Amino acid sequence: MPETSLRPVAVVPLIEGETVRLRPLREDDVPALVENCRDEQARRFVPVPLDYTEDDALTFLRRTVPDGWREGSGHVFAVADPADDVLLGTVGLHAFRATTADVGVNIGPAARGRGVGTAACRLLIDYAVEGLGLRTLYWQAFVGNVASLALARRLGFTLHAELPGFAALRGEPVDVWLLGLSARTGGPEPREKL
Ligand SMILES: CC(C)(COP(=O)(O)OP(=O)(O)OC[C@H]1O[C@@H](n2cnc3c(N)ncnc32)[C@H](O)[C@@H]1OP(=O)(O)O)[C@@H](O)C(=O)NCCC(=O)NCCS
Repeated sequence: MPETSLRPVAVVPLIEGETVRLRPLREDDVPALVENCRDEQARRFVPVPLDYTEDDALTFLRRTVPDGWREGSGHVFAVADPADDVLLGTVGLHAFRATTADVGVNIGPAARGRGVGTAACRLLIDYAVEGLGLRTLYWQAFVGNVASLALARRLGFTLHAELPGFAALRGEPVDVWLLGLSARTGGPEPREKL
């Protein structure tokens, strides 16, 4: 197992982009969070509880996410529309190591396919590299998650490996596509291994 490197942060930053904003999650995000996590693609490709409830959302935003920031184990942002501040999805950094972390993203079904994931992840990657000094970011997509693979590649990630049973979804092993993005190049690495 890789050594973890905690990155505690006291105040969640607000990161403004042209088409999306990254901000702290709030209680009025609960209905949108529930809808996004009950979505079929989210249930299939993200380890959210099945039949996600309001209580699940409240536990996530009152406990899981603040604990992650305070303890430094995860930096999770709300992705919001800058026009009305409505929640479109969530994005975050997880599994911090000395100079790397994993990127996670879940965009709600109503906001997919129009560049929201790309814009949110670009802001997150800038924050990770410029703000936290990370040098490499990793992306784990369950094998078959072609939307996630396409998004990662659009962001410049390179597919490194297909790893049997590397992740778990509700107790069951899941095969993973592992991709990486090096801050040194700022774009795709020279070649794919698969
Ligand atoms: C994966 C996900 C984050 C993509 O977000 P999005 O906002 O729809 O992505 P974008 O609109 O920025 O599109 C990014 C790229 O992905 C492609 N893409 C998006 N949805 C796709 C789909 N269903 N099938 C194939 N490609 C898709 C886009 O065409 C674009 O690629 P291009 O530049 O080559 O055209 C979103 O579908 C999602 O949250 N899905 C459910 C949860 C999930 O799978 N999270 C990722 C876990 S690793």
